[in-house]
Amino acid sequence: MTRTVRAKAPAKVNLQLTVGPVAEDGFHPLVTVFQAVDLFETVEATARTDGRITLTVDAAAGSPVDASGVPVDESNLAWRAAELVASSYGIADGVDLRIVKGVPVAGGMAGGSADAAAALVACAEAWDVGATRGELARLAARLGSDVPFSLHGHTAMGVGRGDQLTPVMSHGQFHWVVATQAEGLSTPRVYAEYDRRIAAREQVQNDLAVEAPVMTALMAGDPVALGRAVINDLEGPALSLMPRLEKVLDVAEEAEACAAMVSGSGPTVVALARSRQHALAIAAHLKAARVADAVLTATGPTAGTVLVQD
Ligand code: C5P
Repeated sequence: MTRTVRAKAPAKVNLQLTVGPVAEDGFHPLVTVFQAVDLFETVEATARTDGRITLTVDAAAGSPVDASGVPVDESNLAWRAAELVASSYGIADGVDLRIVKGVPVAGGMAGGSADAAAALVACAEAWDVGATRGELARLAARLGSDVPFSLHGHTAMGVGRGDQLTPVMSHGQFHWVVATQAEGLSTPRVYAEYDRRIAAREQVQNDLAVEAPVMTALMAGDPVALGRAVINDLEGPALSLMPRLEKVLDVAEEAEACAAMVSGSGPTVVALARSRQHALAIAAHLKAARVADAVLTATGPTAGTVLVQD
């Protein structure tokens, strides 16, 4: 009987996302600090002998994440991850993939990248290609800027496109509230709006340097200090494309979040809480204000992509 292999990969929040001027390849050099949080994508892989790839997508049981808009063809990053493993290791077999989504779709939390990371690990195992973690990390960088971090997990600084990682020391657990929107924001559009705002002087270009206060707050395990230190250069562009997100930030701030910010390229808004209890209180406040389509809580840092044993 063919065995089904399961891997799970975490979502991320960017505690620092500093964006440099667009380069000739169309990408922006970044200095970013990622934290993996415990919202997971699971990818199941079952090898098939006829060389075909199939894909289905479901929402995780009990999760408010809406999986209906996710493509189930070769445009899906998980599909491309399977193709990349097959071509890199000379695999002629196919695979049935099933994605079980627990991360907001097109939300700025790297759900699609988590699918790719989980598919890399699951396919490498299902086809028994004997890949090292380092080999998978190199394949991850070819699939997307955030895929290497989803593989790595924990806390890390990313430079280049955000794909060149260095681990960062962090103490304790941080409690987050995650407010999602049904309508997504396209990452390239948000970067294009960033370029427009810089050219129009609606936003200043920050130095591409790691923020020492972010590192210090992480090492101290101090959510209040971390809240003061977080910075996201894509927040302005995301807000100008979706102004109603201002209201989400205001409501989280009313509930005394240590920080409320757009996650990555948005439109998900994340709020940092002082404790688990405080996170539940902020979540209740956001739900009552009806400013988000779904409100979840999450904790970080958490491990990167791992195989899940039944
Ligand atoms: O690498 P990824 O596929 O996630 O990038 C999606 C898009 O986001 C890119 O095509 C590019 O427009 C933009 N991007 C960028 N600079 C980065 C990462 C992404 O401009 N460092």
